Amino acid sequence: MRFMTSSDSHPPSGLNGAVQAHLAQNNARVSRLEHQGAFYWVKREEGLSLRMRLQKGNAASSFETERQALHQLNALNAAVPEIIAEGPGYFVLSDSGDNLQHLLQSPEKSLKDRMPAFVAAGDALAQLHTKNISHGRPAIRDFCWKDSKITLLDFERFAPKRNTKKGHMQDLLIFAHSALASRQGITPELSIALETYRAQNPHGTWERAVDYCDRMRWVDWLTKPIQWRKPGKAKEFKAIPMVFDLFAGRDVVQATGL
Ligand SMILES: Nc1ncnc2c1ncn2[C@@H]1O[C@H](COP(=O)(O)OP(=O)(O)O)[C@@H](O)[C@H]1O
Ligand SMILES: [Mg+2]
Repeated sequence: MRFMTSSDSHPPSGLNGAVQAHLAQNNARVSRLEHQGAFYWVKREEGLSLRMRLQKGNAASSFETERQALHQLNALNAAVPEIIAEGPGYFVLSDSGDNLQHLLQSPEKSLKDRMPAFVAAGDALAQLHTKNISHGRPAIRDFCWKDSKITLLDFERFAPKRNTKKGHMQDLLIFAHSALASRQGITPELSIALETYRAQNPHGTWERAVDYCDRMRWVDWLTKPIQWRKPGKAKEFKAIPMVFDLFAGRDVVQATGL
C-alpha cells in the first residue's frame, strides 16, 4: 500500500511501518500510537455491518467527510490537527493534547491551568465562525489543549450546508451545552470561554442563540420527565434548562466542586 503524506510535511522515519503494525493489531476507530517518544492519533473508517450502517448512517461517508474537512481546514490555517499521514480507510494526526472535557473534570488541574484553555476555545470557535465556517458538533471533548495551543477535532459533521449563521449558532449552543452537561452547572471556565466568544460575536451569533433558545423553551418542558431522573443520570437532558437560562441572561445553577 502506498503511503501518502500531506503536501508539505513528511512523516518521521519509521512511522509508516509503525502505523501499518498498529492498524494490523488495533481495531479501534480512534487510537493513540506512540512512535519515537511522540504521540500520534490514528483514526480509521468503521467497519460496520449492513444493519449497523443503516442504523448509524453511512460511516464511510462521515470518515471521508472528516478527512476532507481536515485537508480544507489545514489549508485555511484553522486550528485543526495536521494530517501526518494517510491511506485507504485511515489517517494519522499529530497529537493535540488533553481534551477540554477531561481538563474540566480533572481535580488535579487548577483553575489557573484551565482558564487559558477555555479562553482559547472561545476564541477558536469565534475565529472559525468569522471565517464563515461551522464545526458541526463542537462539544468540549472535541477541543484539545497542548503547549498553550488549542486545536479543534472531530469534523465528522462538517458540511458546507452548515456554514451558515444558523450553523454557527448551533455550534455555540452545542459548545455551551456540552460544558454545562459535563459539570452539571456553570463554571468560571465556561463563562470565560463564552465571554471571549461574545466579545467577537461573529455575525451576531450570540443574539441568534438568544432568540432560538427563547423559541425552543418548550423542549425544556417536554424533557422534564427525563430530567427528573436520579443524580448522575440523563446529564445531557438536565443541562437543557441551563442552556436556556444562560442565553436568557438568567442565573444558571452553579457547578459543584470536583
Ligand atoms: N489529534 C488528536 N490529539 C489529541 N487527542 C485526540 C486526537 N484525535 C483524537 N483524540 C482523542 O480521541 C477522542 C475521540 O476522537 P474524535 O476525533 O473526537 O472521534 P469521535 O468521533 O470518536 O468523537 C477525542 O475526544 C480526543 O480525546
Ligand atoms: Mg469526538
